[in-house]
Amino acid sequence: MVNYNKPVNQPTILIVDDTPEHIETAVAVLRNNNFHVRVATKGNIALKLLEQHMADLILLDIYMPEINGFEICQMIKSDPAFRSIPIIFLTSLNDEASISKGFQLGAQDYVTKPFNTSELLARVNTHIKLKKQAESLQHANSELDSFCYSVAHDLKSPLLSLNKLTEYLAADYAAKIDSDGQELISNIQEKSQEVIQIIDHLLDLSRMCERKMNLTTIDLSQLFSKTYTELVALEPVRDIEFTLAPLPTIQGDALMFKLLVQNILSNALKYTRHKATASIKVTATQTDTEFVIAIQDNGAGFDMKYSSRLFNIFQRLHSNNEFEGSGVGLAICQKILKRHHGTAWITGKVHEGASFYFSLRKNLSTIVK
Ligand SMILES: Nc1ncnc2c1ncn2[C@@H]1O[C@H](COP(=O)(O)OP(=O)(O)OP(=O)(O)O)[C@@H](O)[C@H]1O
Ligand SMILES: [Mg+2]
Repeated sequence: MVNYNKPVNQPTILIVDDTPEHIETAVAVLRNNNFHVRVATKGNIALKLLEQHMADLILLDIYMPEINGFEICQMIKSDPAFRSIPIIFLTSLNDEASISKGFQLGAQDYVTKPFNTSELLARVNTHIKLKKQAESLQHANSELDSFCYSVAHDLKSPLLSLNKLTEYLAADYAAKIDSDGQELISNIQEKSQEVIQIIDHLLDLSRMCERKMNLTTIDLSQLFSKTYTELVALEPVRDIEFTLAPLPTIQGDALMFKLLVQNILSNALKYTRHKATASIKVTATQTDTEFVIAIQDNGAGFDMKYSSRLFNIFQRLHSNNEFEGSGVGLAICQKILKRHHGTAWITGKVHEGASFYFSLRKNLSTIVK
């Protein structure tokens, strides 16, 4: 009996083309090389087939009736479920304009017709290999995130117990322990509190990697204003000029954005601590496609020579004696912005202040998973 089931690990190629000879050649060469092949002669059929069975790669003809290849490419690349499928355009030789439009729309490669079968095969193999590598990297990354989460999570409860036990020790044995001993106990408590804070930050970072995005409308003016009020209430009384220019309303995950703004503003508040009058300004600019938000302060600043390191975990340019911290805040900010297809950068000058910027695309709701 013939087994019609697709063997496990056999990559599926979807051919979208309306020319029978091209289909025949491509199907023959791909099937001979152990690929599972599906064929759609129209754009709408291709999309239906994709919904039923995921493909590992798409060979897409440009000129087709009803929906052309460019439109199909656009639809596929704007759908989060299909965006990662590599697309190879099938074009005629010297059709430079179509080739460059295909790349602009997110296609990975092109093959000219009539096919040179070994070229077609080589390109298909290369992109299937790249896709597999990207998937296994993604898998390894998420395993690492889960590992980081469980380590941090498992370390936290014994540390909390340790902290509590030293608290009891200090209270219950106050009469028996002399002042040097009391000082040692309070040092232990301080240090364990620091480690608990690092762990909390690591847990935040892991959560931001794993969390499923839930896009809502966020009024950035409100978010910055509310978060600033909350953070400044925890500070000793100081002279701070806080300026909040009108900010846009954006689409984003509310919990992630709260954490982003908390981290940015807590840095601005922390690193301006030694200024007689701290200044923190939040402003926004925009282009046709994106918003750029800037948070500028007049604090301790930093040497730009090291700025590229700052988004890496545990990288700090200030000592704990000068400003406490775990060096995880900016890594969290970057992770959150990446998940929103945004970018983050920071500039600074020693003793003159720092500026944190982030940009966000305006059409976010159409591209975020
Ligand atoms: N506004 C700022 N002014 C000056 N230096 C800054 C500023 N923001 C960040 N930095 C520098 O970048 C480093 C990394 O910042 P990040 O927020 O990741 O960590 P942190 O503030 O040290 O600790 P935490 O994890 O508690 O946020 C800081 O240690 C500091 O050296
Ligand atoms: Mg910080």
